[in-house]
Amino acid sequence: MEKYIINGGNKLYGSVKIQSAKNSVLPILAAAVLTDGKIKILNVPQISDVKNMVKILTCLGCRAVYNGNDIIIDSSYADCFEIPSALAHELRSSVFLLGSVISRFHSAKIAYPGGCDIGLRPVDLHLTGLKRLGVKITERNGYILCKCDKLYGNEIMLDCPSVGATENIMLAAVKAEGTTVIKNAAREPEIEDLQNFLNRIGAKVSGAGSGTVTIEGVKSLGGCEYLPIPDRIEAGTFLIAAAMCGGEMVAEGVHPENISSLIHKLAENGCKIGLNNDKIIIENHGRLVSVKSIETQPYPGFPTDLQAQYTALCGVCEGHSIITENLFETRYKYVPELRKMGADITVIDRNAFVRGVERYKGATVIAHDLRGGAALVLAGLAAEGRSEIVDISHIDRGYGSFEYKLRNLGADIVRVTV
Ligand code: UD1
Repeated sequence: MEKYIINGGNKLYGSVKIQSAKNSVLPILAAAVLTDGKIKILNVPQISDVKNMVKILTCLGCRAVYNGNDIIIDSSYADCFEIPSALAHELRSSVFLLGSVISRFHSAKIAYPGGCDIGLRPVDLHLTGLKRLGVKITERNGYILCKCDKLYGNEIMLDCPSVGATENIMLAAVKAEGTTVIKNAAREPEIEDLQNFLNRIGAKVSGAGSGTVTIEGVKSLGGCEYLPIPDRIEAGTFLIAAAMCGGEMVAEGVHPENISSLIHKLAENGCKIGLNNDKIIIENHGRLVSVKSIETQPYPGFPTDLQAQYTALCGVCEGHSIITENLFETRYKYVPELRKMGADITVIDRNAFVRGVERYKGATVIAHDLRGGAALVLAGLAAEGRSEIVDISHIDRGYGSFEYKLRNLGADIVRVTV
């Protein structure tokens, strides 16, 4: 097991280069199964979720070669439609493979997916969507078994705009016979990125980024080289770090429009924010003020994946805030840990009532999930004294070279093997 040791209190100065979006790279890797053409994905983050997805592809018979930060996938040898349960449990996004594996083999077998323990995270919408395309699904002994003779386009109305269900249905529909229309589709930028990738290999997808995505089935797909969009959540995490620690930081290689909900809130808190093409410049030299309330929503609302980090910021702002988590049921597991650092936060149901304290105090805390873990790191960086963040494997799922990037900005943080 590994942990971070942080001596808090350093201001952050300098630039940080943002990685390609985890939530784009994972479905794009899943999409590689659809084609025999070679796929080269550029600037892939060195995170365990990606490594696990590549391991699963290898188990399916795909060949994967790393070339620096790029990865080349050749699925022409893929010969297996079963996703091993140990790996499916490591990675929730393994469920995206259902769509592409069923498209390729007309059969798929996958154990119920894992990922962060942040709530129920059902997959009913994924399965209902696949059934509408002609897939027969049975669930037995913790496995989902899918079979079809052929996939047929259809209209699918999602009960809620699920990111994963939208992407999974897109992947299954790309080579189906006829046209598929997904209504009440999720509108996250990563869905548009998946559309752009699929169209680059020869698919006919339109409408992503709006509530209706249309997929006209094609017979075959080719290869391509593709640079996914920057990670808006990684960028947002660094911006919040700079807001909490003070200093002046530039997040480089970002699409500022994809995190405008956060940028507006940070400006309301009192940060000075500048935008320059693909750069966001943030400056803060004093104590920030609370925003009254904020709630997580599907895109373009405030992202649930930045809720923990932003709550940690509110914890040291002047005044009170109410945070409401609308997407996942148990996304406040970091709060008891943050309280060990002196936070004054009370959680009732989906709401966190935050009374800002002057400063956090260093403590030993446990990272229970990816974004909650990142929030604890930020609190440690801003705290007075020494903190230990234990069980950082969750953080490694989504942040590549996290401590190197933070150290480059002036933070005092090291990784230690226990
Ligand atoms: C994706 C992101 C994750 C982010 C989340 C919400 C990836 C790899 N992960 O997760 O980082 O936090 O979007 O922005 O892209 N739901 C159902 N039934 C389903 C599917 C979802 O009820 O079949 C519900 C969920 O319980 C949740 C809501 O829909 O309340 C949103 O979940 P969803 O958008 O599917 O999230 P993920 O795709 O799992």
